[in-house]
Amino acid sequence: MEMADKEKIKELNKRFYKSPAEEVLKFFIKEYKGRIALSSSLGAEDQVLTDMTAAIDKSLRVFTLDTGRMFPENYDLIDRTSKKYKIEIESYFPDAAQVEDMVRTKGHNLFYESIENRELCCKIRKLEPLKRAFKGLDIWICGLRADQSVTRINTKLLEWDEQNGLLKLNPLYGWTHEQVWDYIKKHDVPYNPLHDKGFLSIGCQPCTRAVKEGEDIRAGRWWWEQPESKECGLHKSPVYKDKL
Ligand code: ADX
Ligand code: SF4
Repeated sequence: MEMADKEKIKELNKRFYKSPAEEVLKFFIKEYKGRIALSSSLGAEDQVLTDMTAAIDKSLRVFTLDTGRMFPENYDLIDRTSKKYKIEIESYFPDAAQVEDMVRTKGHNLFYESIENRELCCKIRKLEPLKRAFKGLDIWICGLRADQSVTRINTKLLEWDEQNGLLKLNPLYGWTHEQVWDYIKKHDVPYNPLHDKGFLSIGCQPCTRAVKEGEDIRAGRWWWEQPESKECGLHKSPVYKDKL
């Protein structure tokens, strides 16, 4: 990244420091028209962003990475969401040959055996399809929040995504869990019914479980691993980059 770009990111972060998420989205969707997309896991934050972006521009690309190991509730939510907002949600699937090879050699539930196996599965089922979803994009919109976990405390509004070579916009970076749910209730945003059953953060079915009252928001993701390793590679924080 050029020095001038670094300065521009700094300047934009300063400019939108206190702006409401809707205002931030309006600016970036217009500024990067045709080169910007929302990446949605259908989680609570992404549903808030979908509600906001559909009100701004229904032609904005919204994509989801379907790993092949999602909860059935996800598929129902994809259909309900696209119907309600009259938008298309593009599904990206993993490369069949790579998945076939992986499960043939390491088994279907390889991820419980080691971090290495878990990262391989995330790489094949999420990172490779993500690369394809990025085609033609200069910036991706994500639902990351700084207080989600130790790996995300440094999340900024606008970041240079070194790993993927494009900009990353996190309009809800400063939001709390309560703010997300207040918005969902107030605007009648469709959400995954698993959230009402103790699933706070939802990923793939075999790698997500419900959490108990008082447990960390992401405690139910890859629960057998330490908090510092719990990223699938979609988001690498500068602090933990060297450790992952
Ligand atoms: S994850 O990296 O641990 O899976 P998390 O579920 O917290 O991430 O989601 C953070 C953001 O990453 C989401 O708001 C969304 O922008 C993006 N994301 C995560 N999973 C997916 C997915 N399956 N498809 C598309 N985007 C995703
Ligand atoms: Fe595989 Fe689990 Fe990663 Fe999903 S979250 S891609 S099932 S390791």
